[in-house]
Amino acid sequence: MDINVRIPLPIPHGWFGLCWNKDLEAGDVKTINFCDQEIVLFRTEEGKAVATSPFCPHLGAHLGKGGKVKGSSIQCPFHGWCWDAEGKCTEVPYSDQIPKAALKPALETFLLEEINGMLMCWHDKKNRPPYFEVPHIEEFNQPDKNWGELFTFEYKIGTCLQEIAENDVDQAHFPTVHLSPSLPETDTEQKGIYRKTVAETLMDPSNNESVSEENRKLYKDQFVTTFTRESWGLGTVLLRMNNLPPSGGEFVMLNVSTPVDRENSILRWQMRVTKNIEDEVGKAIIDGIANGLYDDIPIWENKTYREKPVLCDGDGPINKFRIWVSQFYK
Ligand code: FES
Ligand SMILES: [Fe+2]
Repeated sequence: MDINVRIPLPIPHGWFGLCWNKDLEAGDVKTINFCDQEIVLFRTEEGKAVATSPFCPHLGAHLGKGGKVKGSSIQCPFHGWCWDAEGKCTEVPYSDQIPKAALKPALETFLLEEINGMLMCWHDKKNRPPYFEVPHIEEFNQPDKNWGELFTFEYKIGTCLQEIAENDVDQAHFPTVHLSPSLPETDTEQKGIYRKTVAETLMDPSNNESVSEENRKLYKDQFVTTFTRESWGLGTVLLRMNNLPPSGGEFVMLNVSTPVDRENSILRWQMRVTKNIEDEVGKAIIDGIANGLYDDIPIWENKTYREKPVLCDGDGPINKFRIWVSQFYK
């Protein structure tokens, strides 16, 4: 670990978000910064999403700068060679023969999953195949009729995913940063790549500065609810609250993260509440959570990572979290 840099942590391995799946339509070509490298994404005319390394195996042109989708391939802007979803050449426009070496996968491709409204990509520096799956979350695939409108948010943040994730167990920052009571954990389970925490918390939308004036009026009473937070690696986090007033509503939020490089990340959040609280406390909760992140951002973007922090009793299970997270760098 290089202690002279602000964020000395390497990029973890796992499933991470590339983009919203609606942002890649048939025929689209995009270049994405992902895990400290560039990835070219395209969607074939038949609708299959493909992720490849940017440089053409022929003479090295960047496929994301002028490449075009042609049928089920991407056509290079330089000499027009076409490459399919497996990285094999399907056409050389000025030759009857495709070189043998290009009939095998010559262009590097990356494993993709289209799930939960996102395009997810597997990243592992050592090129090991995935050893866990992205969870399928019903509410962001086929929500039943009790769920209300979908709200989406996107944040670019100048720090790494571990620092962002550690926030959840950092109990002592809630009163100072969010001006809210801390969230004492009542239960934590860490099993392999999966982590689940349950915490009782006092919600007070009418007193929360992250909630707009208008939405604050929608709910004036404090209430206690249970936060259940589940993580699958550092790429996918699901938050649920149930039994919300006044009529026993539910809240669900999915956070899909992207390591852009060692010091930059993107979080994409999706939230919805059940229709029975949509026009009341539901709006205030969504507002408070979506804006509450802006309290943390200036701290994250300026702090350094402390490998051996000096901790005290009330700090929360930071070391336990760090033991769990260390598996994603191995
Ligand atoms: S560099 Fe891509 S076709 Fe020549
Ligand atoms: Fe926070």
